[in-house]
Amino acid sequence: MTYVITENCIKCKYTDCVEVCPVDCFHEGPNYLVINPDECIDCSMCEPECPIDAIVADDDLTDENKHFLEINERLSKKWPIITEIKEAPSDAKEWENKKNKLDLLEE
Ligand code: SF4
Ligand code: F3S
Repeated sequence: MTYVITENCIKCKYTDCVEVCPVDCFHEGPNYLVINPDECIDCSMCEPECPIDAIVADDDLTDENKHFLEINERLSKKWPIITEIKEAPSDAKEWENKKNKLDLLEE
C-alpha cells in the first residue's frame, strides 16, 4: 500500500504534507507534489496535513482518480525530494477544489 497525491494538489501545492513524512518520499514539481510509492511506508501521517484533502491511500482511490498512482510513481523518479514547507503559490486559494486540473500539470 502507498499514499497518493491526487488532482486537487495541482496549482495549490501547500506543502504542509512534507515535513511529517518519516522517510522523505515527497517529490516536488513546478506546480504539484507526488509521493514515491516505493518509499512510502503507509504511516498515514501526511493525509490529515493536507488542507484540501489531496492525499489518499491507494486503497481509497476511486476509478476517477486511480491514474494518479501511475503519475506519482512516474514523476517521483524525475522530480527532486522536498522536505521543508514552502510558501504556496499566490493564487493557490483560487484553484482549490477546481475540477479537471490535470491538463495544467507541469511536468
Ligand atoms: Fe510519508 Fe507516511 Fe505519507 Fe507515506 S503515508 S508519504 S510514509 S507521511
Ligand atoms: Fe499538495 Fe496538499 Fe501537500 S496541496 S503539497 S498534497 S499539503
